[in-house]
Amino acid sequence: MADDNRTATLTFDNKKVDLPIHSPSVGPDVLDIRKLYGQGGVFTFDPGYTSTASCESSITFIDGDEGVLLHRGYPIDQLAEKSHYLEVCYLLLYGELPEGDQLEDFESRVTSHTMLHEQMMFFFRGFRRDAHPMALMTGVVGAMSAFYHDSTDIADPWQREVATIRLIAKMPTIAAMAYKFTIGQPFVYPRNDLDYSSNFLRMCFAVPSEDYEVNPILSRAMDRIFTLHADHEQNASTSTVRLASSSGANPFACIAAGIACLWGPAHGGANQACLEMLKEIGTVDRIPEFIARAKDKNDPFRLMGFGHRVYKNFDPRATVLKQSADEVLELLGVENNPTLQVAKALEAAALADPYFAEKKLFPNVDFYSGIILEAMGFPTSMFTPIFAVSRTVGWISQWKEMIADPAMKIGRPRQLYTGATYRDYVDVENR
Ligand code: CMC
Repeated sequence: MADDNRTATLTFDNKKVDLPIHSPSVGPDVLDIRKLYGQGGVFTFDPGYTSTASCESSITFIDGDEGVLLHRGYPIDQLAEKSHYLEVCYLLLYGELPEGDQLEDFESRVTSHTMLHEQMMFFFRGFRRDAHPMALMTGVVGAMSAFYHDSTDIADPWQREVATIRLIAKMPTIAAMAYKFTIGQPFVYPRNDLDYSSNFLRMCFAVPSEDYEVNPILSRAMDRIFTLHADHEQNASTSTVRLASSSGANPFACIAAGIACLWGPAHGGANQACLEMLKEIGTVDRIPEFIARAKDKNDPFRLMGFGHRVYKNFDPRATVLKQSADEVLELLGVENNPTLQVAKALEAAALADPYFAEKKLFPNVDFYSGIILEAMGFPTSMFTPIFAVSRTVGWISQWKEMIADPAMKIGRPRQLYTGATYRDYVDVENR
């Protein structure tokens, strides 16, 4: 953080507080309010953290107005086009693109950790078959701290590294097993001769009774979905991981907390909610009715897969994924799928509607990822688990950065209290 001795002066109630101004490498300046309570006796109020930088980070940068997303400085469209998921993982984790044999070494470390402790299979069997795969993932990832004791000491950099590799390697296995469990099929073990995405597709779609060959176009589309969701700076689930780990909790517990947060429909659950909405709309002729509902102030309905807290002109991830969606739909020859037809018509109708233009609402990454995953044959309940697989590296990168930061403190927000003031307890017969 560059400190050029500039300050902003806050004056109120005959008090004057000088607030240091920090300059980021790119993006808006940041007022440092850490001494505000000590010197001015006031808190700041910012529900939803719309104007608050909760940490210093050098991993990901977003300019929501310009539709820019950079990982370690590299734009997401270039990474999606020229790189692949495990290389992006390396970049996010270690700060630079791998050189020489660094990528091969990283890939082989990840590959050698893809299997789960065999005892964990029994753990899956304790769940109901009709459980949501996200419920299984939250439980199973949290349970990793009960299986991998030798990588839970966050003060030991070696254990942090082992936990990192284990999580990236095992998340696809856990997500695929959660899926297989809920559809009553046998688990398919990982195959280490396949790349990350092909292995995941095989673990989800292969059955012991038949050969399964991974289509390279689908594997590439899967890899793109993983790459595009790898990190997104201080979003709700990442902030959850940071907050959970600020207490010193072990990495598996913290990632489980991130998965729980991601599940919500305003965050990672939006891709499932979006496909469910498309199915509810059902036919193209019903689109005007749903657009009208989305615009009605008295109706809580929102067009899922539209809008974003940070991107206010376009979502650069959606631009890349729209192209992938076209490729996958053509390859699979599913252009006549009614849900996908509704999706295309809804996209066109919303983009042409002044309400959505004025409020800067456009299809986000979840709109297109849902379409691709549906076409690939994933049920909607697997959409968010796939997001969780992708985002694991982002959560861990941010977690590692936080643990290594000497300025790290336990997260402890303040509040604007509006409840009752002091009052004495009243015995029940006098209430
Ligand atoms: N459909 C209809 N109206 C909307 C929508 C929508 N999807 N999103 C926002 N609005 C309206 C909202 O009613 C409000 O109108 P007004 O100013 O008249 O009150 C205005 O736009 C601003 O909405 P907001 O809730 O203040 O905006 P936000 O930045 O807090 O919300 C959001 C961002 C993503 C939660 C929201 O756009 C939304 O609920 N979208 C649908 C869910 C979704 O697709 N989420 C995935 C986000 S991308 C994945 C990720 O990165 O996690």
